[in-house]
Amino acid sequence: KILANTLFLGKEVIYLPVCHSTNDLAMDMLKSGKVTEGSIVIAGEQTHGKGQRGNVWKSEPNENLTFSLVLRPTFLNAMDQFYLNIMISVAIVEALASLNLELLVKWPNDIYTTNGHKVGGILFENVISKGKVSSAVVGIGLNVNQKFFDLDQATSLVWLSKQELNLKEIFSLIIHKIEKNYVLLKGGKLSELKDRYLKSMYLLNSWAKYSDGEDFIGQIIGITEEGKLIMEKESGVQNFYAFKEVKFIK
Ligand code: BTN
Repeated sequence: KILANTLFLGKEVIYLPVCHSTNDLAMDMLKSGKVTEGSIVIAGEQTHGKGQRGNVWKSEPNENLTFSLVLRPTFLNAMDQFYLNIMISVAIVEALASLNLELLVKWPNDIYTTNGHKVGGILFENVISKGKVSSAVVGIGLNVNQKFFDLDQATSLVWLSKQELNLKEIFSLIIHKIEKNYVLLKGGKLSELKDRYLKSMYLLNSWAKYSDGEDFIGQIIGITEEGKLIMEKESGVQNFYAFKEVKFIK
């Protein structure tokens, strides 16, 4: 039994040693009315873990965290749905900071080391109804104790902490922070959440190489209310980018 000691988030935790994808499972349960808000599905191993943009999420069995939470943010306008990305990614970064692990958010919601390696990602599956976010399945994949990766750009927390970490403790810290942030979101504290997101943002106000079809030097100077990236190019021109419209080049 995984204890989270929260008010509503993780009151019901469904642990599966193996499953297809915790996001798919949570979505099926949501659709069949089998879960309440705050339920969490966590797996030791996923056979078909899903990443963003139709990618596969690979994770060594039992070494990392792979879980999905069910939220019903019916108070949230569809046009403000990026605040879900904000509050979740900030929660993860700040929870890990309490263990002296320094991480950042690479826009929109990748969890990055300060030197540019990915340790985690979040997959949001929001259901919109009548202009509101009626429900959301939030899938979190965080590399914790896995030591070796197929992809050069991937890493895990164990390389930062230099020692094995306790999965339950990290899970619990993250769930706590998410619940706190969710209460802030519900209370309309959008600008506070956005400020904290900007403070945690990878490459904010630093010049780097990007591509939007053409390579350019630019610096991220903020995000819009809808979560678009505000980029200043070397030429002085400002551009707004939606997800997938720009990529960082190493
Ligand atoms: C990304 O591509 O960065 C997002 C990765 C999200 C992975 C998590 S693992 C738990 C949940 N279940 C899934 O199938 N995907 C998410």
